Amino acid sequence: MIRLNNISLDYDERHILKNVSLTVEKGTTSVILGSSGAGKSTILKVILGLTDIKSGEVFINGKSIYQINEKELLKVRRKIGIVFQGNALFDSLNVRENVSYFLAYENKLSEREINEKVKEMLSFVNLEDTQELYPDQLSGGMKKRIAIARALAAGPEIILFDEPTTGLDPINSKAILELINKLKSLGKTSIVVTHILNDAVFIADNMTVINEGEIVASGSVREILKSDNSFIQKFFYEIFLDNTLFKEN
Ligand SMILES: Nc1ncnc2c1ncn2[C@@H]1O[C@H](COP(=O)(O)OP(=O)(O)OP(=O)(O)O)[C@@H](O)[C@H]1O
Ligand SMILES: [Mg+2]
Repeated sequence: MIRLNNISLDYDERHILKNVSLTVEKGTTSVILGSSGAGKSTILKVILGLTDIKSGEVFINGKSIYQINEKELLKVRRKIGIVFQGNALFDSLNVRENVSYFLAYENKLSEREINEKVKEMLSFVNLEDTQELYPDQLSGGMKKRIAIARALAAGPEIILFDEPTTGLDPINSKAILELINKLKSLGKTSIVVTHILNDAVFIADNMTVINEGEIVASGSVREILKSDNSFIQKFFYEIFLDNTLFKEN
């Protein structure tokens, strides 16, 4: 279980997160929804213990990660996989080397075991025959799936996805969302950051809407969609308007 308790964070005296609280139960998918600059990626950084906070606490499986030493923090971090905003694949490494990067780094597995793992992960994301390709030979959707394979390779319990479908066509987006749902069926816990409402509805057990560093609402998909909160209504209305205009053209 992941719990953020009243997290506040400033960058250069700007209040970026204001009293953010959030609970994610084991084996569920939580979506953090908000517009650009709302603080979504920052929340993921906070969960990884990668940035200083001003106040509050983050618990991961009961451990308060801002109160433990670096060695313990690394142990907690090993339970977490991350698919970064914009993939962050290593351009000079091929797919096999990218997917095995963190495994090889850990240095505990034999080469045969690493190769098996890479095969298993590539099969999970339906990209078996790409081992020798380099990132610039992959489409955007394939890159995302390789980034997911890399995040999963070390067997994390928790996976953080930062805008996993941004820039993808509907078919590739759907493939990514189905992978996220498949992970849930395997008992994994996911936190997915997005600004795309349809994607959120397709995968979320719980949704948290954030605006300017503040949580506007959180609850089940049904609760959020029915919310009469004025920000949420405006946010959804603009999405609706976009779709309507698009259809009329
Ligand atoms: N390292 C940093 N130093 C200073 N300001 C930062 C830093 N990282 C983020 N910010 C600021 O914090 C705010 C929230 O950024 P964040 O990246 O969390 O937004 P986001 O919701 O992920 O946006 P997007 O949808 O565009 O990715 C922004 O105003 C951003 O400029
Ligand atoms: Mg972001």
